[in-house]
Amino acid sequence: MVEPFAAVDVIKAKRDRHELTGAQIDWVVRAYTRGVVADEQMAALAMAILLNGMTNDEIVRWTTAMIDTGVRMDFSSLPRPTVDKHSTGGVGDKITLPLVPIVAACGAAVPQLSGRGLGHTGGTLDKLESIPGWRASLSNDEMMEVLRETGGVICAAGDGLAPADRKLYALRDVTGTVEAIPLIASSIMSKKIAEGAGGLVLDVKTGSGAFMSDPAKARELAETMVRLGKDAGVTTRALITAMDVPLGLAVGNAVEVAESVEVLAGGGPADVVELTLLLAREMLDLAGITGIDPASTLSDGSAMDVWRRMIAAQGGDPDAPLPAARESDVIRAETGGVVTRMDAMGIGVAAWRLGAGRARKEDAVVAGAGVLLHAKPGDHVSVGDPLLTLLADEPARFALAREALDGAVEVGPAGTTIERLPLVIGRVD
Ligand code: URA
Repeated sequence: MVEPFAAVDVIKAKRDRHELTGAQIDWVVRAYTRGVVADEQMAALAMAILLNGMTNDEIVRWTTAMIDTGVRMDFSSLPRPTVDKHSTGGVGDKITLPLVPIVAACGAAVPQLSGRGLGHTGGTLDKLESIPGWRASLSNDEMMEVLRETGGVICAAGDGLAPADRKLYALRDVTGTVEAIPLIASSIMSKKIAEGAGGLVLDVKTGSGAFMSDPAKARELAETMVRLGKDAGVTTRALITAMDVPLGLAVGNAVEVAESVEVLAGGGPADVVELTLLLAREMLDLAGITGIDPASTLSDGSAMDVWRRMIAAQGGDPDAPLPAARESDVIRAETGGVVTRMDAMGIGVAAWRLGAGRARKEDAVVAGAGVLLHAKPGDHVSVGDPLLTLLADEPARFALAREALDGAVEVGPAGTTIERLPLVIGRVD
């Protein structure tokens, strides 16, 4: 086959700050997926994009080209409006777990095609896999069946969804090119648009434990993704939310499932409940469902009922005890006063080193590993009070986790004012 372009010319064009043509973009994305453009060439192009950016037209075309390398899902046969949510990822971010059954209990269909965690942020599938028997991989027919039966499904995204992104994301990960906003936005949105829900709410995190620690960059990413969604006919909206401190009091896999079940039972930490309900209201608004307060699904047990049916439909036993770590190590306050810092990044890295996360895609995670928080910034503690409990199967991991926590947790004199990001920092409509 005669190729219409040479990869080196496309690289040079972006290197020299020219706008790529639609035909160049279509070709380079497809040719890379076919293996005609080599990894080193795509790496050079990704770096040129990181350094020189892309115009809006280029980003839209790049996203469409990535979608067109795979399949598009179709939920139009469902009797309910479909709405989806995506979080850019954070420490203790288990919001998807209570959110999907809540929104389904309100009458929407929520297809959540999720991923596994890499690095210090956890993955939804890793968390759910700590439930005995629960299965992440479903065929398309099985997925539709669970969705039809329960209103929600959380499962692994199949290989057919934007395969160009799968290949490109792995390459970006090892070439220092993950942080390019055009590439992040097109990566996330190609999968979400291919997924085919009618509405999409984005939770773009900012703060030390987020991918975009700078709020201005988080807003730019949110604006780019909302534009991409709308251009593709998906009603899209974004909240920019805090990730300077972990969400809730549990960071890990089984411990985050347990905390999510507490929320579904009508309890749970205030920040997890608040963010879950905020996102639920946005999703219901996009789905055009009015007259129902999502909080009522927590008090009347209907969200818990959907959760139990969703878990059972995928082979899980919602009543089975969750795996627990074999060993624990408690970190206590050395002075009394007010907690001024519980840094999300330090705690995320600690949980990862305890076995809750993976360094390479192929690694297994330890279901019971993680970190429990006993206090949050602003709380008063006395000398000797527990601040964190570290959970692992092997005690040798505790020293490594403690290293990651150096400077991550601070207690100041009583009366110290603390600086925290508000839970919701902004929104993009
Ligand atoms: N998540 C994705 O799916 N893609 C990115 O580029 C970054 C985060």
